[in-house]
Amino acid sequence: MSGDAWFTLDWSDEGVVLLDQRILPEEEKYLTLATVEDVAQAIETMVVRGAPAIGCTAALGVARAARVSGASDLAGLHADLEAARARLARTRPTAVNLFWALGRMAEVEAEAASEPGATVASVGEALLAEARAIVAADVEACRALGAAALPLVPEGSRILTHCNAGALATAGYGTALGVVRAAHDAGRGITVLADETRPFLQGARLTAWELDRDDIPVTVITDNMAGHLMRKGEIDLVVVGADRIAANGDVANKIGTYSVAVLAREHDIPFYVAAPTSTIDADTPDGDAIPIEERGREEVADFGGRPVLPSGVPVRHPAFDVTPAALVAAIVTERGVARAPYTESLAEQLRGA
Ligand code: MRU
Repeated sequence: MSGDAWFTLDWSDEGVVLLDQRILPEEEKYLTLATVEDVAQAIETMVVRGAPAIGCTAALGVARAARVSGASDLAGLHADLEAARARLARTRPTAVNLFWALGRMAEVEAEAASEPGATVASVGEALLAEARAIVAADVEACRALGAAALPLVPEGSRILTHCNAGALATAGYGTALGVVRAAHDAGRGITVLADETRPFLQGARLTAWELDRDDIPVTVITDNMAGHLMRKGEIDLVVVGADRIAANGDVANKIGTYSVAVLAREHDIPFYVAAPTSTIDADTPDGDAIPIEERGREEVADFGGRPVLPSGVPVRHPAFDVTPAALVAAIVTERGVARAPYTESLAEQLRGA
C-alpha cells in the first residue's frame, strides 16, 4: 500500500526532526528535538535507530548544539560542542557510524575554527553544511551499494532479511533494503521474508511497514521459522545490514543475525552484508573487540506492552551479535562487492575513500 511521502530524519530551524519509530506502524508522528539532550535521549530510546541513521542524527545533533550554543567566542563554542559530542557518544556503543560521524564533526569544527576570520556563526554554518553532507552522502551510498549488489540477486530471488536495515535505519533507501529496492526497481521480481526480530520487532514493525509503503512484496515470519523455510528451499539468499564491521570482516548486527548466518551456511544459502564504508571500523581488528550493547529488561520481559514472564525472573538482553567473517559470502558497500579475505578487500575499499 503506497502512502504519503515520509522521511526518517531531517533538519529544521526548530530542531532535529525524527520520525518516531517506537510507534510505527500504528502512528506516523514526527518529533522536533530542540536540544542535544533531546537528541541523545531519542537515540537511546529508539525513536531513531539503525547504524547509519544514528550517525546522521548525531551529526545533526552537533549542528543543533552549535545553533543553540549562545557562546560569544570560539572557545565557548568549542566547550559546548565537546560536551555535545561526549553526550551523543554515550548513547549507544555498538554502531560505529555514531563515532564516525562525531569524529567528522570534530574535524570540521577544527577546520572551520582555524579559517581566518572564523566566528561562532561561521563555524556553526560549517557544521550544519557537514551534517547535511553526511545525510546526503548516506543516501547516495545506499543507492550505490544497491546497484553494486545487483549481480548477487538473481531473477525471482526470495530474500530473507533480519531487523530493519532500510530507509528507516539510514538517511533514506537503506542498506540491506537498498539491495532489495535496487533489485525490485531493476524488475528482478524479488520477494522478501522479514524476520520479526525479537525483542524490539524491527522486522515486523519497521521492515514490513516500509516495504509495504513501497509496494515491495514482504512476508513476516517469527525468528524461529527461518531454519524451517531454508530447509524447505524457500529462501534463496540472505541480506542483512551491519552496525560495525571489524577489519577482518567479522560483522556485528542485530541479535539473531549470527543464528541466521549459521543456518544459511548449513543450507548452502549465500549470506550477504550490505553497509556503507562508514560502518567499517579499521581500528577494531575482529569481532571480539566490538562492544556489544546490553539493553534494559523491559524490551525482553514485555511484549506489546504486557509482561510475558514472571516478574522476578532475570533476562539477558545483548542487543547485537557477531557473525564471523567465514560465514559471510560478500560485504557490499558503495564501493563495490568485497569478498574474503576481508582484511585485504575491506582495507582496499577504505583506501578508496
Ligand atoms: O538496535 P537497532 O535497531 O539500532 O539495530 C539496527 C540493526 O542492527 C541494523 O540491522 C543495522 O544497524 C544496520 S542499519 C542499516
